[in-house]
Amino acid sequence: MKSKPHAVVTGGAGFVGSHLVDSLLDDGFQVTSLDNFGSGRPTNLAHIESERFASIEHDVREPFPDLGDVDYVFHFASRASPKDFESHAVEIALTNSEGTHNALRYARDNDARAILASTSEIYGDPEVHPQHEEYNGNVNVRGPRAPYDESKRFSEALAVAFQQQYDVDIRTVRIFNTYGPRMRPDDGRVIPNFLSQALRGEGLTVYGDGTQTRSFCYVSDLIRGIRAFADAPPEVAAGDVINLGSTDEIKIRTLAKTILDVLDADSDIVHQNLPEDDPQVRQPDITRAKQLLGWEPTVSLEAGLERTIPHFADELDTTVDSSQ
Ligand SMILES: NC(=O)c1ccc[n+]([C@@H]2O[C@H](COP(=O)([O-])OP(=O)(O)OC[C@H]3O[C@@H](n4cnc5c(N)ncnc54)[C@H](O)[C@@H]3O)[C@@H](O)[C@H]2O)c1
Repeated sequence: MKSKPHAVVTGGAGFVGSHLVDSLLDDGFQVTSLDNFGSGRPTNLAHIESERFASIEHDVREPFPDLGDVDYVFHFASRASPKDFESHAVEIALTNSEGTHNALRYARDNDARAILASTSEIYGDPEVHPQHEEYNGNVNVRGPRAPYDESKRFSEALAVAFQQQYDVDIRTVRIFNTYGPRMRPDDGRVIPNFLSQALRGEGLTVYGDGTQTRSFCYVSDLIRGIRAFADAPPEVAAGDVINLGSTDEIKIRTLAKTILDVLDADSDIVHQNLPEDDPQVRQPDITRAKQLLGWEPTVSLEAGLERTIPHFADELDTTVDSSQ
């Protein structure tokens, strides 16, 4: 029996993936990151000094390299910003189809447990609120978000097929909007947008009238949920799917005001047209995660923003009063 479990993390140089790598290393894992550095950055991993860690530049659309014995495959590679859904449409669609196929084959061939990163986007513009895991969603199959939404849905379908046909233990996490340090200021998601604009003294871009809602989870809460789900015994979690996210739903225009309050900034709010198929509401039903894992988020939006702001200020080379 090996003393140190080996986890392969695809997308390990990304925002979520790099925090997952840190958490696994903290718990004594040997960890290998596979990343093509498309939206992720080597700097997200530059602080790691552990000999138990390896970072390999690899595109998951290609078959995985031989990495020796593997116990866990965390498949987190995929661009996740709506800004990229059209500009990198084919890449995203193939990362979540061919890439997921490679990741699941790799887990199967190594007799490893797989943890698949899915998304609240599989619920589309939801007609059921809050969204529970049994809801099948409302995705426009031909809309601008489809390369991401539909390929994530296919990832889940492929996971179910692998479970049925090969009896692989694949656990799927449907991640709702998550934020924190190491997101790129130009990432294009709403919290990076607002923080970057506010720190630069620019107006905050709100799409539509800003009454659309989201629920924002701080990254440490998400990682705790992913790890608990991955570590849960098979009789509790094998082949299951759970929502992970905050249930504190907030209007986007309220989020803009909260960010200005936390920063003590006075930027204007600038309204632009609502993008096509933008979900009007989003809030996870986390009953299953609570029951299975005893998991729920603990970091408030204000506390999470306080922890995130210094990272953005550093990246943008602006200063903020750390007492704020
Ligand atoms: N952060 C969120 O709010 C959120 C919400 C829902 C789902 N997710 C999922 O979590 C995962 C991580 O998202 P994130 O927010 O950290 O985004 P991110 O863009 O910061 O990280 C994605 C990582 O995957 C890498 N990658 C992309 N395509 C690849 C490929 N073909 N081969 C190898 N590496 C590739 C990127 O270089 C990057 O390092 C994604 O699967 C995403 O769909 C995230």
